[in-house]
Amino acid sequence: MTASPSLDKIGADQLESKWESFEKVRSLTESLAENLSDADATVQSMPDASPMKWHLAHTSWFYEEFIIAPECGEDARFDTNFSYLFNSYYDGVGERHARDRRGMLTRPALEKVLEYRRHVTSHMKSLILSGNPRCLELLELGRAHEEQHQELALTDILHLFSLNPLRPNYRPTRPVSYDRDTTEIGWTTFDGGIEEIGHDGDGFHFDCEAPRHQVIVRPFELANRTVNNAEWMTFMEAKGYQDPAPWLSDGFAVCERENWEAPLYWYQNDGEWWSMTLRGPQPIDPDAPVQNISYYEADAYATWVGARLPTEAEWEFAAKDYALEGNFLGSERLRPQPQITAGGQLSGLFGDVWEWTASPFTPYPGFTPSEGTIGEYNGKFMSNVMVLKGGSCLTPDRHIRASYRNFFHPDKRWQFSGLRLAK
Ligand code: AVJ
Ligand code: FE
Repeated sequence: MTASPSLDKIGADQLESKWESFEKVRSLTESLAENLSDADATVQSMPDASPMKWHLAHTSWFYEEFIIAPECGEDARFDTNFSYLFNSYYDGVGERHARDRRGMLTRPALEKVLEYRRHVTSHMKSLILSGNPRCLELLELGRAHEEQHQELALTDILHLFSLNPLRPNYRPTRPVSYDRDTTEIGWTTFDGGIEEIGHDGDGFHFDCEAPRHQVIVRPFELANRTVNNAEWMTFMEAKGYQDPAPWLSDGFAVCERENWEAPLYWYQNDGEWWSMTLRGPQPIDPDAPVQNISYYEADAYATWVGARLPTEAEWEFAAKDYALEGNFLGSERLRPQPQITAGGQLSGLFGDVWEWTASPFTPYPGFTPSEGTIGEYNGKFMSNVMVLKGGSCLTPDRHIRASYRNFFHPDKRWQFSGLRLAK
């Protein structure tokens, strides 16, 4: 996924700085588990979500399996059972523990998992500082992988806490005030043409972002911010969740079966809408982007207002000149914030909420998965999932790019996913 750096060009100070950034990623992951008990970190709330303990271990196993064991030998493994326990989905690695039973792992204890992390981090330290070529080649992928799991760990712990009637507060609320903008959605017009999307080769990217290639983009308009909660409530009040008319058939079937009547985590309290957040129960902020909606809901809403979801190509083309700035994990808000629209600029493209696109996650023309078992990373998931763009308030800073392709099944709602309209 990155070109193999030529070893003789890498000096000791560069290796030192690689180690320092690696160490930061490792400790950030650990900080996410800081206030959690072993019980908090063990329970699995649904098959899609994994326990914090599993995330902590799996993000260590990844380096152990693909870097440490091949370079330092099998004896360097912390515990030979851990490959079975913490392999997520790599058939090339072998047998593994069932995904929907990750919550059964009352052992190893949280403390043991943290010890596993220290073991792996210290092996990685030696490999990085000695300039081990395999280690350096896979380091960026390992970092990006761990960062993906930082976000997943947070969405998973929110799902778990949302099922606890005590509605635990994951991070005590800090008073946050936002600048507000209650203006209507504005539209930016794009001429389109024969454009290019995908990653251009410089710097780290996942295999699925390449090759960069031409696409025909017809003239389109894109909303200058994402749809907010006040707008979503008008959809709810207009019986949007009861009327099949704007829905895809598959979507309405799920809506009925699951009794959807609001975004995930919303509930009524004294006639007011509240939601469960990583800062405990909070009143719905009308100006903040709607979040925790499925592709089906996003698509139904867009149809209902006479618009549509942007394609991935439209979104990426519109975003290409915007700085990679926004409300990310580093802000520590852990919630999307109202998006201020000004001067014909698009607001909130990066950060706040992932934006569902109308595009399926399929290979770009000429796509080649990485060689070997690591090639299972993205390529084998290229069916029945839709692309999301832009990152969220839980996405680690500097993880995102315009060409970044996140993907989930169209009925999933537990990620911080929202929508921006196009027409
Ligand atoms: C891109 C978020 C869908 O959740 O499986 C984690 C990220 N890939 N480990 C997923 C991922 C390998 C992936 N998503
Ligand atoms: Fe993973």
